[in-house]
Amino acid sequence: MSRLVCVSNRITVPRRAAAPGGLAVGVLAAMRDTGGLWFGWSGELEANPPPTPEIVTRGEITYATISLTQADYDRYYRGFCNTTLWPLFHYLTDRFRYDHEWHLGYRAVNRRFAEQLLPLLRPDDRIWVHDYHLIPLARELRSLGVTQPIGFFLHIPFPHLEVLRLLPPYAELVRDLEHYDLVGLQTEADEQSLRSSAARITTGAFPIGIDVDAVIAEAAAAMRTEPVRRMITGLIGRPLMIGVDRLDYSKGLVERFSAYQRFLERHAGRRGRLIYLQIAPLSRDDIQAYAEIRAALEQATGRTNGRFADTDWTPLRYLNRNFPHGTLMGFLRAAQVGLVTPLRDGMNLVAKEFVAAQDPADPGALILSSLAGAARELDGAVIVNPYDLRSVSQAIEAALAMPLDERQARHTAMLAALRSRDLRAWHTGFLAALSAAARR
Ligand code: G6P
Repeated sequence: MSRLVCVSNRITVPRRAAAPGGLAVGVLAAMRDTGGLWFGWSGELEANPPPTPEIVTRGEITYATISLTQADYDRYYRGFCNTTLWPLFHYLTDRFRYDHEWHLGYRAVNRRFAEQLLPLLRPDDRIWVHDYHLIPLARELRSLGVTQPIGFFLHIPFPHLEVLRLLPPYAELVRDLEHYDLVGLQTEADEQSLRSSAARITTGAFPIGIDVDAVIAEAAAAMRTEPVRRMITGLIGRPLMIGVDRLDYSKGLVERFSAYQRFLERHAGRRGRLIYLQIAPLSRDDIQAYAEIRAALEQATGRTNGRFADTDWTPLRYLNRNFPHGTLMGFLRAAQVGLVTPLRDGMNLVAKEFVAAQDPADPGALILSSLAGAARELDGAVIVNPYDLRSVSQAIEAALAMPLDERQARHTAMLAALRSRDLRAWHTGFLAALSAAARR
């Protein structure tokens, strides 16, 4: 079989801290299945990056990493990727900024990715490019003479043309996509949005999933581990509500904290009882919008705890640290309520992990934003609009009061949905469609 070459901005070399998020998990699963080459940025900055990538092989996977300069990082990563494309693609247009220099930096880094990948390619490779950082990569590779199949998968939403048009070089970005044999999106809605800009591209919806049995096993095993037992002991029998998100404004944490404050105001009987644990590891914290949201959340936490806490009860436990994946699965299993309320999200794998991590005999209830891709599959969740504080507050009460038979019925339905579109279905489905599209 032909070799798989995955390309993403950030790559997960074993024993380096992983970037949390679906991309790293998804690419690693595909690479583990078939072996191959994974090419991307090492996460390091260097004044004079070497002209060839650093190569490390671990088992069946070869990792090839390049480093960036400070100027690349500022213009390409902080600038165009995460201050232009990220907010725009999430429809958060008030956070969108544009600078021509950032756009030039984005093009230059994509060119460099192509030049450094080229000597590593073999004639029978299939190339799979991931996410918004690398939209121009196929065009650059083609201009260097690459004829192998090249597919692209966007892990985040794709905006409708009327939003995309805010971006000055939007037409160029759409033309970049035409150089791929296949462009994959998370949902059919994203696919339709892309079609509003580009009718000539071969597209498909490939919702990313999770390894259901692995999460079930991890969550069950984690219950016997020290960190999960300590967390449960600290609850002293009180119900737990949990959120786990990268600290990103698209996750709706400010709105979520306000909804929780409203909930505590309106449901005096739950005070002194319910504990809300929000785990939010820092992300992109050298970008101003991320520093602002961090400060806003610290203030909101102080306000809520200052107003409602008692000598033996803290309503909101807010942590900026990260935990090993298994420990997180144990925390999810220990919770009665999972709160996943992004303002916009390509998919959201935490919602899926929350469902799989539950004890089927006594499952917790999931509250899920209608604006997350996952809501299109998980209709057994309590679906909310994250901007509507009243409805989120009511959903928390409904989730806490939900009878066992209803929780079980919703859990069974959602687990079946997860199994029908799991992580293996995502990468095998995409790669089969890429081969078919390239043959045409
Ligand atoms: C999201 C993006 C990924 C990205 C991850 C972590 O999941 O879709 O492409 O890798 O966030 O963000 P970072 O900027 O730290 O790579």
